[in-house]
Amino acid sequence: MEKKERAGFSSKLGVILASAGSAVGLGNIWRFPYEAGNHGGAAFILVYLGCVLMLGIPIMLAELIIGRQARANTGEAFDKLAPGTPWKWVGLVGVLTGILILSYYSVVAGWTLEFIGEAVTNSFADKQAGDFIQSFNAFTTNSWRPVIWTVTFLLLTHFIIVRGVEKGIEKSSKIMMPVLFLLMILMAVCTALLPGAGAGLTFLLKPDFGKVNADVFLGAMGQAFFSLSVGMGVLITYGSYFKKDTNLTKTAFSVGMIDTLVAILSGFIIFPAAFAVGVEPDSGSGLVFITLPNVFQQAFGEIPVLAYIFSVMFYLLLALAALTSTISLHEVATSYLHEHYRLTRKRAATWVTTACIILATLCSLSLGVGKNMTIFGFTLFNLFDNITAKVLLPVGGFFISIFVGWYLDKNVVRSELTNGGTLRLPIYQLIVFILKFLAPIAIVCIFANELGLL
Ligand code: TRP
Repeated sequence: MEKKERAGFSSKLGVILASAGSAVGLGNIWRFPYEAGNHGGAAFILVYLGCVLMLGIPIMLAELIIGRQARANTGEAFDKLAPGTPWKWVGLVGVLTGILILSYYSVVAGWTLEFIGEAVTNSFADKQAGDFIQSFNAFTTNSWRPVIWTVTFLLLTHFIIVRGVEKGIEKSSKIMMPVLFLLMILMAVCTALLPGAGAGLTFLLKPDFGKVNADVFLGAMGQAFFSLSVGMGVLITYGSYFKKDTNLTKTAFSVGMIDTLVAILSGFIIFPAAFAVGVEPDSGSGLVFITLPNVFQQAFGEIPVLAYIFSVMFYLLLALAALTSTISLHEVATSYLHEHYRLTRKRAATWVTTACIILATLCSLSLGVGKNMTIFGFTLFNLFDNITAKVLLPVGGFFISIFVGWYLDKNVVRSELTNGGTLRLPIYQLIVFILKFLAPIAIVCIFANELGLL
């Protein structure tokens, strides 16, 4: 047994909030509405819910089992449980995937800072619908402004990470998560009351199954993995900080529920808003940034101070949600470098931050000056987005479920799920069945379907 004391989360609430903080982020509020909008709304959301239940939550559990059993970071956990086997590559690829996600994610996170600035200086006032589209495009294609915000966001993440697990991650999540939730409920009520919002509710609630094709399945699966932070080992690293008496199944379900609620809630904020102001739901990655400032102006045109307060609150909240997610992505790579190469935490974090600053700058520039430098027809930003969510995370999830379903000793799995036999778990067989058969087969089918093989 290793003697060294590892850091850990100190309370049960902290465990759930930190994991939910990782899950809830731009994935829910920015990516979910724009994927749902691109794929036709309600029908996509139903497929998405299926993916969360059948793939996301079970694989989340598999990650927690690996993490808590190995008591090691993602890069080392597989080697501890399956020494000398190629399984270690699942963890190492996970660490790399995290860096790729962090790099493009912090670009969008940087945008939220710009929007906080615009909200605070009241620059949304007097703009018309068209102006929002134009100013968003002008901003994201600008060379230096978004880069500065992106770097600022990475540095913010860096400093919280350097403070460590308990002080940094747990404390910040405990405050940010509940505030976020309350603000979103308030906003959903406000946008539902806008004239013309009804069409948005129909788009959200009335499925058109004629629109379900292979892309819908791949998109929904990718979004489920992305939104729950599953498939690259965030929850292996976090699970390794869990206490022995934490109920893994309950944690996974709570996090899955909270994450899904926030995603749906943001659908209820954004689609009624988009329809009310005449923005197409499939207008892509600018959806949240173009729609909402406009909404506040329209909804509270009579009372400008409310428009002001809501704009500031919303973008602040978006930035905070993004921050608890970037922290989790950063932590995976930092804890690996820190523990594997025995660097100090600060030095490990510095390496990760530096690598991400370089990659993120390239991602940001790829939307403006580098627009014509495409790889497989994608800008670097879109390549990182698509390749991580739609390829690397599901492939990671596939191997993680096979590892726990087939490779890991069943006594270990049972003992982790029941905390050494002290918890009753009536759905134990179901979880094992999903990890052994259902999840891996579903992932393969969705890929095969996308490639036209089915
Ligand atoms: N889930 C987060 C979101 O919805 C993003 C995120 C954090 C993530 N850590 C992750 C995505 C790990 C995939 C893997 O915004």
